[in-house]
Amino acid sequence: MAKKYRIAWLPGDGIGNDVLDATRIVLEALEVPAEYVPGDIGWEFWKSEGNALPDRTIELLGKTDVALFGAITSKPKEDAARELSPALRGKGLSYVSPIVRLRQIFDLHTNLRPCKAYKGNPLNLRDDIDIVVFRENTEGLYSGVEFHPVPEEVRDVLAKHSKAMGRFAKVPLDEMAISLRLMTREGCSRIVRQAFEYAKRKGRKRVTLVEKPNVLRETGGLMLREARRIAADYPGIAFEEANVDAMCMWAVKNPQQYDILVAENLFGDIVSDLCAQLVGGLGFAAAGNIGEKYAVFEPTHGSAPKYAGLYKVNPIAAVLAAKLMLEWLGEGDLAARLEGAVAEVIAEGKVRTYDMGGTAGTLEMAGAIASKL
Ligand code: NAI
Ligand code: MG
Repeated sequence: MAKKYRIAWLPGDGIGNDVLDATRIVLEALEVPAEYVPGDIGWEFWKSEGNALPDRTIELLGKTDVALFGAITSKPKEDAARELSPALRGKGLSYVSPIVRLRQIFDLHTNLRPCKAYKGNPLNLRDDIDIVVFRENTEGLYSGVEFHPVPEEVRDVLAKHSKAMGRFAKVPLDEMAISLRLMTREGCSRIVRQAFEYAKRKGRKRVTLVEKPNVLRETGGLMLREARRIAADYPGIAFEEANVDAMCMWAVKNPQQYDILVAENLFGDIVSDLCAQLVGGLGFAAAGNIGEKYAVFEPTHGSAPKYAGLYKVNPIAAVLAAKLMLEWLGEGDLAARLEGAVAEVIAEGKVRTYDMGGTAGTLEMAGAIASKL
């Protein structure tokens, strides 16, 4: 079969390697017409080169159609500095998360997080949950605009903001920190549009905006106005608004009532982890970071260092990330076959990894899924 796609293969470190090895077995059984191009990314490259996402990897991604990413370790500032190779220390290098950089470099503005209960998964809260979270991926509270110590001119802006904020004028500059919730009309409308377009394409019935506009009046207000404006273009799809705190309660109480959720970066991050746990947790949660021309798919779990190389963790999250990737590539049939195989193995309940209460290893699970293809 002609190789149609070039897929960047980025296992990263820790269990990223375990789960992508498993995923490869499944993709090969599925006979995806693809060539897999390995790329360097992760903690090893921070230690040895001072860059967890070397330029050569960015260049390589530019020559591929899509990327599948495993997981990477990241550590707090001081620990990161200490682990740098001696020759690189003291040069002012600072660690930046490769996944955050990928999102910025390739403008991967949409984070897609399906949370579906596969029948027979003993970890499901209930079996009728099928929620898809759309999270804005490039701005909001994770805009990256942060201050510590706070520059004087920024503190002055606070002091001038209102009488009540005058109290900040007295706080020493290094005794406060600021992270900015920065939202643009374009960022808001883009993510909401993606959610509605997805709903339309998939025949979904409801989109719920998760925000907090009664308190975050300006940023939340902007998002709310954009969402209402866009919702009007989709009369066949119900639009609802929920406050993020209340949403966390409702999602646990009545998860079967929700369909598509859309949110800015931080709220989307929180709500998507919450929803993931309703349907099995980290071993099942996959995500896509999607832009106009490029996308990076990943299991949402981290590198779980204590399990690294033991081939013990559940590869289903990574396999479902590959399923999202196939869908994005336009290979709907392959994606459906892959999902069907996963669903079948879960429903049979014979092969289960430790998180599901079983004893099967990572590759055994991959083999079971592959055998259904
Ligand atoms: P983690 O997701 O790596 O693991 C937490 C725990 O969840 C594990 O100890 C394990 O019990 C369970 N778990 C994770 N994946 C599983 C799977 N596939 N099957 C079964 N059980 C699974 O989160 P943690 O421990 O907070 O972070 C470890 C490292 O990973 C840190 O350095 C962190 O910065 C990094 N991280 C990287 C992410 C990424 O690459 N996208 C995301 C989250 C954390
Ligand atoms: Mg997260």
